[in-house]
Amino acid sequence: MHKIAISNQKGGVGKSTTSINLSAGLARAGKKVLLVDLDPQGHSSLGLGIKTENRQTVAELLCQDNCTIKDVIQPSYIENLHVIPSDNSLSAAEVKLAQTTAKEFVLRKKLKNAEYDFIIIDTSPTFNTLLANAFLTAEHIILPVQLDFFSLAGIQSFMESINCTNEKAGSLVEHHANIMGVLLTFYKTRSNLSKRVLDALKDIFGEKVFDTKIPENVKLSEAQESSKAVFDHDPKCSGAEAYHNLVKEVMGRLTNVN
Ligand SMILES: Nc1ncnc2c1ncn2[C@@H]1O[C@H](COP(=O)(O)OP(=O)(O)OP(=O)(O)O)[C@@H](O)[C@H]1O
Ligand SMILES: [Mg+2]
Repeated sequence: MHKIAISNQKGGVGKSTTSINLSAGLARAGKKVLLVDLDPQGHSSLGLGIKTENRQTVAELLCQDNCTIKDVIQPSYIENLHVIPSDNSLSAAEVKLAQTTAKEFVLRKKLKNAEYDFIIIDTSPTFNTLLANAFLTAEHIILPVQLDFFSLAGIQSFMESINCTNEKAGSLVEHHANIMGVLLTFYKTRSNLSKRVLDALKDIFGEKVFDTKIPENVKLSEAQESSKAVFDHDPKCSGAEAYHNLVKEVMGRLTNVN
C-alpha cells in the first residue's frame, strides 16, 4: 500500500484538484484507492459529490476513540474509489485533537488496517496537527507548485516542517516522509519569470520535478462544479490528459522505488 499526501502550505495551488484527479485516475487504472480529505474546507469531498450531512466524517475519526474507518468511509461514484470526507466540523475537531496525547499519530493508527493499493491525503494550507498527522501517515509527499513570484517563498519552511516532523515524531515509529515529486500546476507557456522559478525548483529538487505539468484549464474547475473527476467531465481536455500522464508517472516512480 502506498500512502501519498498532497501538500503545500501555500493556498490555492491545486492540492485538492490533484487529490481528486490523481485518486480518480488511479482508480480508473484498476487500483483500490482511499481518498482522505484532511482539510476543513472539504473541497475533495465536494468535488466528488460526497455528502457529509448526518454522517460521521474524518472529524469523528480523529476525535472519537471508538470511531473506526468503517464508520466514515463512503463509496464515490467511481468504482474502486472510496472517500473519508471532511467538512467545516474538522476545524473544531482539530482544536480538540491538538489537546490529546500522541495527537500526531491518530490518523496513522486509524488507517493501519485499511486495505487499499493507494491512500491519497488532501491537506490544508496550514501547518497544524492535521498536517502533522498527514506527514506521519504518508511515506510520500507530492508538492504542487504554481510557478509565480511567491511560490519559492514558503518552500524552505515547508521542507523544514517535514524534516522536523520526521526527526521529532517519525523517528519514534520508524516513519520517514519523503518528497516524491514536485508538480507544476496552472502551467502556462513559459514566461521569463516562470522559467526562472522552474530553474530554481530544479536546483532544489532535481529530478523530483515531475515531467508532467498540469496546464491552466478551466475544465478542471468546471469538473469540480459538476462533482466529477475531470476524466468524466471532459475526457479529451488538456487537464484530463495531464492528470492521466501524472497517474502513469506516479505509478512508474513507485515501481522504481519498490
Ligand atoms: N490547472 C488548473 N487550471 C485551472 N484552474 C485550476 C487548476 N487547478 C486548480 N484550479 C482551480 O483553482 C482553484 C484552487 O485549486 P485547488 O482547490 O485545487 O487548490 P488547493 O491548493 O487545494 O487550495 P487550498 O489551499 O485552498 O486547499 C479551484 O477553484 C480549482 O478548481
Ligand atoms: Mg484544497
